[in-house]
Amino acid sequence: MDRINSFCDAEVWEGELPPPREILLQKIHHAQGLVCLLTDKIDAEILNEAPSLRVISNYAAGFDNIDVAEAARRGIVVGNTPEVLTETTADFAFALMMAAARRIVEGDRYVRAGRWKTWGPMIFLGQDIYGATLGIIGLGRIGTAVARRAKGFGMKVLYYSRSKREQIENELGVEYAGFDRLLAESDFITAHVSLTPETYHLIGERELQKMKRTAVLINTSRGPVVDNMALYRALRDGKVAFAALDVSEPEPIPVGHPLLTMENVIITPHIASASVTTRTRMALMAADNLIAGLKGETLPHSVSPESLG
Ligand code: DGY
Repeated sequence: MDRINSFCDAEVWEGELPPPREILLQKIHHAQGLVCLLTDKIDAEILNEAPSLRVISNYAAGFDNIDVAEAARRGIVVGNTPEVLTETTADFAFALMMAAARRIVEGDRYVRAGRWKTWGPMIFLGQDIYGATLGIIGLGRIGTAVARRAKGFGMKVLYYSRSKREQIENELGVEYAGFDRLLAESDFITAHVSLTPETYHLIGERELQKMKRTAVLINTSRGPVVDNMALYRALRDGKVAFAALDVSEPEPIPVGHPLLTMENVIITPHIASASVTTRTRMALMAADNLIAGLKGETLPHSVSPESLG
């Protein structure tokens, strides 16, 4: 905010919850720049009310909350905050995987509930990470950072991506697999794709059926990449063993949601990038994108078509 305030007048929505739509529609009218969160849906309706808007700076790497094409049509550039969150998010995906594999959250609940009576050879048996096969869906920056960690843990890594990433294959010793092979052979499967019409419910009934019954699914990308009701049924019926999710559909996931009744599910509140350092870097990057856009300069990180960004 200091950086933004030293450049322009800014009005800040102080509420803990996102601004109601009608407020956004009203406030956007005079704005030349907008810093928004992934909880703000910036679509044609909002853009129609924003005759002076020149730049939208999203405080997130993902930008599925913004209609970038509509913005481009109006000459509005859109910035995001990639790269700075890569390692932090990969750490978290790995933390979820380990917590699921070794049943850490269940174990904690068991102790707190006063159910721990004695050491037992059979209590809370989990799965080894070492020597297991990890399937990475989407070998972009975060997927690659997860692969690097997995190699350090002695895992075999399969990946599925739109294109083969030969340089990363050579560097890290990861193997490209068709989608169905990855689903069938992986002990752990982690999603690192953007949410687009193509990736909506990428993991649904069919994909869950193809997984091993012992498989653990990790999602730190966007909730709608996984069909949560299909996942619930698969977990309930023993088709897959465990899910560790940082994102859900919807967000927040309602307390009565069937997934929250399952012991074999970990759900965290979309915090994979939430380290002090990373969130600070994201904030500075969002401020820099905003200021560059207001100045009419190229954004440090633009997601607009090249002609604009
Ligand atoms: C992002 O940046 O897209 C994450 O989901 C939040 O940091």
